[in-house]
Amino acid sequence: MSIIPSNVNGQASSFIHNKEHYLTLVKDLQARRKRAHLGGPEKARLRHTESRGQILPRERIRLLLDVGSPFFELGELAGDNLADGTHIGASLITGVGLVNNRQCMIIVNDATVKGGSYYPMTCKKHVRAQRFAIQHRLPCITMVQSGGAYLPEQEGIFPDEGMFGSIFVHQVDMSAQGIPQIAIVMGSSTAGGAYIPALCDEVVIVRGKGFMYLGGPQLVEAATGEKVGHEELGGAEMHTRDSGVADYIAEDDAHGLSIVRDIAANFGTAPTQRWDVASSVDPLYPIDDIYGIINQDTKIPTANRDILARLVDGSHFDEFKANYGDTLICGFAKIHGFEVGILMNDGVMFSESAKKGTHFINLCCQRDIPLLFMADVPGFMVGEEAERGGIAKDGAKFITAMSSAKVPKYTLIIGGSYGAGYLAMCGRPFNPNAMLAWPSGRSGIMGAEQVANTLATVREDILTREGKTWNDDERETFKAPHRKRFEDSENAYNFASNLWYDAVIDPCETREVLALLLDLAGRCPKIDTQFGVFRQ
Ligand code: COA
Repeated sequence: MSIIPSNVNGQASSFIHNKEHYLTLVKDLQARRKRAHLGGPEKARLRHTESRGQILPRERIRLLLDVGSPFFELGELAGDNLADGTHIGASLITGVGLVNNRQCMIIVNDATVKGGSYYPMTCKKHVRAQRFAIQHRLPCITMVQSGGAYLPEQEGIFPDEGMFGSIFVHQVDMSAQGIPQIAIVMGSSTAGGAYIPALCDEVVIVRGKGFMYLGGPQLVEAATGEKVGHEELGGAEMHTRDSGVADYIAEDDAHGLSIVRDIAANFGTAPTQRWDVASSVDPLYPIDDIYGIINQDTKIPTANRDILARLVDGSHFDEFKANYGDTLICGFAKIHGFEVGILMNDGVMFSESAKKGTHFINLCCQRDIPLLFMADVPGFMVGEEAERGGIAKDGAKFITAMSSAKVPKYTLIIGGSYGAGYLAMCGRPFNPNAMLAWPSGRSGIMGAEQVANTLATVREDILTREGKTWNDDERETFKAPHRKRFEDSENAYNFASNLWYDAVIDPCETREVLALLLDLAGRCPKIDTQFGVFRQ
């Protein structure tokens, strides 16, 4: 095992400035999380707690989970600043935590946001949580209190795959795969909000608070003229005695959650860890040095080996093919005792880097070692020499290896990750087990300045063809809005808002988050990899 030496000078002014800057990014992340955790407007929260005597969603989660359990959230910042007015968090909380010492996926409607109704992003977030649960064979516990579809946005909720209907599809798939699903109906649950519990294995309903019906009293009266109250139409007594849609009555929220914990105690044998996990060893250097290592000026490349030295156990790293294709660092290391194969950019991807990465992925698949892609890549090399050297076929090899690999895959965007580089480093379309980013992470088809320059060049060619010219000011006036648009778009929070990232994490949280994720993946059966054709 070799130790990565540290080349960091903590007294250097650049380090100090970078660190000060990064701390503001971390503060911003914390502020966003705080905003997401607050839930809906104060009026709605007070109505929930004081008028109805109900417990707020995050408190419900706290009561459900084992004392001291971590709760890793997926899509915590989803839905922020979207044009359709989705609230940050998208009126749903999804994440993994321990219930009776068993990792479970917890899915909770936030009824303080538009009655817990489903915006397009809420559907996407619910489906993403289910896909994560299926991939990791996690039992799902859903706390239901939802007005169903957010009606004004039906085009983004109703017709297509990946929308509300896919929640049902995944419920049925999970059921067929023997993944337990429990629902607790804690408030009014209409239409889709009623089908979700009905498709679960066991359903708890809270007396006097939980109601489930395909159409509420007003809708029934409008549709059929029948006048009926909430209790008769969908209350706890009716559903547990007459309809059989629910199985257990709870007297209040806390009682209901204790019943859910009892149910979870009967999920059967918990899956065991398939990997050897060594004792965890702290890195040799402080992890918060990362704040000072990442350059505030995005034009200056970051010394990524120094980052690696602060993330892996004992700063030990067995580097693979160190002298070859050195813009892609590959090697074996441990994170809290879990072995991982790390692929980390250190510049533009060349043919050699791509071939080395392909070879390394192949090794990890043979040995059932999970892959961690740490992305900070401007893209693949362009130009005649690169093309003549077959960069396209070598890039294709790397993409084939990465995409075929069935070992667990994790992506962490640490800097600017652009174009095919973003994709090849296991970008979202390649379905990594988790897609994470640091606040410094940026992704896009190209950098904002390059986009503005490319579009300006195209415009200039058209002007020339038409016998016109423009001056520098006009060129800049043309470029500025394109640059701004791409700067906004490449931002980590835009990606998180659209759920193209599962989570934005503080670099100092990275080891814990990865260890939690690796622990989940190691409790699933190994899947053999069948590689596609490698163009030679
Ligand atoms: N679509 C759009 N907006 C909805 C909604 C839905 N399905 N359900 C609730 N809302 C909105 C309300 O308009 C209100 O918006 P506002 O804060 O801007 O005024 C907000 O959510 C809270 O609704 P409110 O009725 O005050 O809350 P509540 O807690 O008393 O009741 C429900 C919640 C869900 C029981 C009730 O709003 C309801 O019955 N909604 C309709 C459910 C339905 O029929 N869904 C069919 C979907 S296919």
